Amino acid sequence: MIWLAILLEVVLLALALWLCLVIGKLFFVKGYRNYPPFVPSFGQTKKIEFARIAKLLKESSTSMTILDPGCGTADLLIKLAKAFPQHSFVGIEWNKGLYKTAKIKSRKLNNITLLCQDMFDYSFADADIIVCFLMAPLMERFGEKVKSECKKGVLVYSNTFSIANLPLIEEIKTRKFLMFGNLYIYKL
Ligand SMILES: C[S@@+](CC[C@H](N)C(=O)[O-])C[C@H]1O[C@@H](n2cnc3c(N)ncnc32)[C@H](O)[C@@H]1O
Repeated sequence: MIWLAILLEVVLLALALWLCLVIGKLFFVKGYRNYPPFVPSFGQTKKIEFARIAKLLKESSTSMTILDPGCGTADLLIKLAKAFPQHSFVGIEWNKGLYKTAKIKSRKLNNITLLCQDMFDYSFADADIIVCFLMAPLMERFGEKVKSECKKGVLVYSNTFSIANLPLIEEIKTRKFLMFGNLYIYKL
């Protein structure tokens, strides 16, 4: 029992340190502010996002391609890929450690492709649905890329950060904390 308590404390301490590091870097390292760090999505927004996309995939008679630029450890993609083997999933993550973790977690799935590269060097042309959880300074450039490369009708689900230069079709308010929440849905 005592070992469990110690383990829990160590995990909590590591989490607190990691959070301090990310927040500290956001405030003090200028370049870092322009690139979204790894903060895994969680909670109500992620649940709603999953449910909405799952409904679409279930109802679709044709195979769809779901793209997650900045997929981190690809939790959302892996969950969807397991539930919908008839659809294709692509995750892009430039952080090698996160990419490798996602690769290991998805090793038994053959409908998911993971790429370790900059999302801005990858064409979004094949995507039917895009899911993203990025960061405010990136959203305008991201929106321009979607507008210039994606086919008409593509749906974009953005966790927490709005994309001002894309046509918004729905905003789902889930914000409970200061920083995280709200799901923005766009359609080209
Ligand atoms: C806020 S995290 C979200 C992770 C994951 N999508 C989730 O919802 O849990 C943003 C991720 O985008 C990645 N990222 C940021 N800029 C990128 C870029 N230009 N190309 C590829 N990945 C990028 C970061 O490394 C980070 O893992």
